[in-house]
Amino acid sequence: MKKVTPRTIRSFKGVQKFACLTAYDAQTSRLFEEAEIPLILVGDSVGTTHMGFKSTIPVTLDDMVHHTAAVVRGNATSLVVADMPFMTYATEEQAMASAARLMQEGGCDAVKLEGGTTKASHIRAIVENGIPVCGHIGLTPQSEKAIGLRVQGRDEEAAKRLLADAKAVEEAGAFAIVLEAMPAALAAEITETLSIPTIGIGAGAATDGQILVYTDMLGLGGAFCPKFAKRYAEVGQIVRDAARSYAADVAGGAFPAAEHTYL
Ligand code: KIV
Repeated sequence: MKKVTPRTIRSFKGVQKFACLTAYDAQTSRLFEEAEIPLILVGDSVGTTHMGFKSTIPVTLDDMVHHTAAVVRGNATSLVVADMPFMTYATEEQAMASAARLMQEGGCDAVKLEGGTTKASHIRAIVENGIPVCGHIGLTPQSEKAIGLRVQGRDEEAAKRLLADAKAVEEAGAFAIVLEAMPAALAAEITETLSIPTIGIGAGAATDGQILVYTDMLGLGGAFCPKFAKRYAEVGQIVRDAARSYAADVAGGAFPAAEHTYL
């Protein structure tokens, strides 16, 4: 795969559907590069998937720089997009400084931030300083205390607001936009209206791309699987079984065997 750029992602619009995944470490990032996944998101979902938090709110900019740098080290060709975490882009100045750290210290190719019209000037400021931005509207987990963790845009007024948000993000210069947890018909309308690609998660089949949190896709997130996710493997079960077999071998004296032993 040739190095993917924001321009590559934009060129997919209306031409080919594309799959995106999250990653938080070098090894997983390398596997997804080998699978030719064009866009890897270092999501602030790292807070819940890898750091043991109940939400994304405790995730810091230092955490995101650390995980972004690891993902970048493992992957030379996917477009690596780093999430700007909670309250690191409250003002335009803070947004530019935070995005700069993610690019300079983390090495990402682009950043993602949550919000529509209220964040348009922040997106513009970052883009004008040479850092590509991916938008994110609909269910925005960093605002969970304000809007809850539920499907957004169900009534006519809310749907109109989301359409206006999507247009504002595009006009501000974003190269793509994540649409999270909204009715499929609304996501389809937004996708048709915008000239930049939409990347859906819980937003139906009409978006230009799809994204999954990789632990959901691999069955690493425990018994719960969100309605919008599909499990493509039960890696959690494989890991549990392997750990049990190892422990049984150690207890029974079958490991280490002669071939694992230095003479
Ligand atoms: O943090 C994340 O993983 C995300 C995806 C759900 C899009 O923002």
